[in-house]
Amino acid sequence: MSRSLRDRAAKDLSDSEAAKELKALAQEIVEHDEAYHRNDAPTISDAEYDALRARNAAIEQRFPKLVRADSPSRKVGAATAGGFKKVKHGVAMLSLDNLFSDEDVRDFDARIRRFLKLNETEPVELTAEPKIDGLSFSARYDHGRLTVAATRGDGAEGEDITANIRTIKGLPDFLMGDAPKTIEIRGEVYMTKSDFLAMNEAYAKTGSKIFANPRNAAAGSLRQLDPKITAERPLKLFAYASGLVEGMDWATHWDFLKQLKAWGFPVNPDAKLCKTLDQTLAAYRQLETRRAALDYDIDGIVYKVNRIDWQKRLGFVSRAPRWAAAHKFPAQQAETVVEKIDIQVGRTGALTPVAFLTPVNVGGVIVSRATLHNQDEIERKDIREGDTVVIQRAGDVIPQVVEVKTEKRKRGAAKFVFPNHCPVCGSKAHREEDEAVLRCTGGLFCKAQAVERLHHFASRDAFDIEGMGEKNVEAFFTDGLIKTPADLFTLEARDKKSLTPLSAKEGWGALSAKNLFEAINNRRTISLERFIYALGIRLIGQAKARLLAQHYGSFKEWRKAMVAAAKGNDEVRNQLQGIESFGDSVTDELVAFFGEAQNMAAVDDLFAQMDKVEDFVQADVSGSKIAGLVVVFTGNLIAITRNEAKAKALSLGAKVAGSVSKNTDLVVAGPGAGSKLKEAEALGVKVIDEDEFLKLIAG
Ligand code: IVH
Repeated sequence: MSRSLRDRAAKDLSDSEAAKELKALAQEIVEHDEAYHRNDAPTISDAEYDALRARNAAIEQRFPKLVRADSPSRKVGAATAGGFKKVKHGVAMLSLDNLFSDEDVRDFDARIRRFLKLNETEPVELTAEPKIDGLSFSARYDHGRLTVAATRGDGAEGEDITANIRTIKGLPDFLMGDAPKTIEIRGEVYMTKSDFLAMNEAYAKTGSKIFANPRNAAAGSLRQLDPKITAERPLKLFAYASGLVEGMDWATHWDFLKQLKAWGFPVNPDAKLCKTLDQTLAAYRQLETRRAALDYDIDGIVYKVNRIDWQKRLGFVSRAPRWAAAHKFPAQQAETVVEKIDIQVGRTGALTPVAFLTPVNVGGVIVSRATLHNQDEIERKDIREGDTVVIQRAGDVIPQVVEVKTEKRKRGAAKFVFPNHCPVCGSKAHREEDEAVLRCTGGLFCKAQAVERLHHFASRDAFDIEGMGEKNVEAFFTDGLIKTPADLFTLEARDKKSLTPLSAKEGWGALSAKNLFEAINNRRTISLERFIYALGIRLIGQAKARLLAQHYGSFKEWRKAMVAAAKGNDEVRNQLQGIESFGDSVTDELVAFFGEAQNMAAVDDLFAQMDKVEDFVQADVSGSKIAGLVVVFTGNLIAITRNEAKAKALSLGAKVAGSVSKNTDLVVAGPGAGSKLKEAEALGVKVIDEDEFLKLIAG
């Protein structure tokens, strides 16, 4: 990223400059997140990291349509839902890095070559497979027989969907022919566009809930506690990868795909083997032209290095393999009319404008709403009710308005006036300096905020209470059954004494009430990080909640510190700011939250309902001889590349630093080492060579 670009205000950037910078920022921020997540060894200061994220947010606010699918502002991890048994994957299920242009694909190829130290003439064959927009699964076969299947979950463990997936035609119960001792087969469950439309049509007639898109429909159908419901849904699947494999191997991914077919799995017929970069790019373009004609949603093409020995050497970075990537298709667009602009109020009181559209088919999915982001966005694009607009849909992202067809505007169409009061509770809406959003000042007095907070509390990544979706939370809140999180945990006891118990209420029934209470009771033991995240304190997302949990270790210590901070204790304030990525604004939010007596009471009431808030546990790197050590690599390495060595060290719990200081524990020096080696010797830091390092990490 050129210095000059980054030094310019977001509003002065052109579209292409903004896009370029957002891409660079997404990459940089991911790298820094990795440095933190994997080894707690940040390479930049807290302030610098905060500045990167703020810059990303500022550009996104100014150019909402350029917000990337992989934007750091969008990252959410999925945890498993209650109700299903958990299954640990034998090998983690990862995500893929995204490529957006031909240039990105060339870089991908170049990165592989650099990592493997290949020269330019050596061919790197890639397979190219359609990237199905469905729900990934992992099905384990022992001695050729299906034993257990799971969703991806958080990558390490997913939900047991064995009974459900067995109902899908196409998934073999037994592998035909030779089978390995154990193999995890990975693939995607999906619904065709035509099945999806037909199913929704039938449901609409009976007044049942309809799904937003084929992906949601597939996910909702597979994650049914009753497999009979799954069996009624038109699900299909493709197999495309393996997880844990014992007792069999293949030279190439292409061979593996052939084996999948021989075993009886459906394998995508459009998979291609590309021998050159030109063939790879041609495969992408060919598939792109066929995309709309395919009867299932794809959002790109997945490239995989064909040679398995190379895949093994390339390994993984954080949550994605180095040997595979997803080349995304551009968003799909369509023209429609804005029938109405509505203002919705979120958990933090943010007033968000939403456009209600004349339903339109965008690449096989019916879209009837689009986000308008905020007041500035509406003004900048001058979007009015009745306008004809171009909208676009990109993957999971809520559809956005790309442009207004002003030439089609009806005469007399009035400019949209953004309200200065909360449409839900009527309180004044306030806009902070430097913020793009207006916020309702009604706090918990505002029903919208209270409901959103409770909904956040029960959501997947927080307390993960199945059955406490938006609709039920709102109904319970309106009925006066729940006001604060603690109320959820006293619901069952109160319900028993009630003259109108839930089980007798319309639409509830004994079973759903029982399931709900069970889901709630299952969460009386919770990790400290989820507890903190669930409170919905502004700016405290999952990552920051985790950092707080890590820093304070236990609920008791954390609470003590928060109370002290709220009372203005400078020492605690400094301590907070010492945590990676915690700046003034984060600290201010914590102080403000705990300074409110009713928040403090809500936290304590909730804690009183818990059986246990579990202390934070560090990842297990026992057995590693370099866990916790600060390691510096210098000079040339021979047997493995510098990147491989670093990746290995990180995965074993070491911190990798770029320069030698008195904090360095170990320097790994190869031939050609210069100043860093000298410094290490001067400081008396232990120095070893590559062979010794390899022995050290071999255990
Ligand atoms: S391979 C380590 N192949 O895309 C490689 N993934 O963004 C694992 N997906 O979680 C994935 N089609 O759900 C692979 N042909 C394909 C795919 C595919 C769809 C999904 C999958 C994965 C996600 C990554």
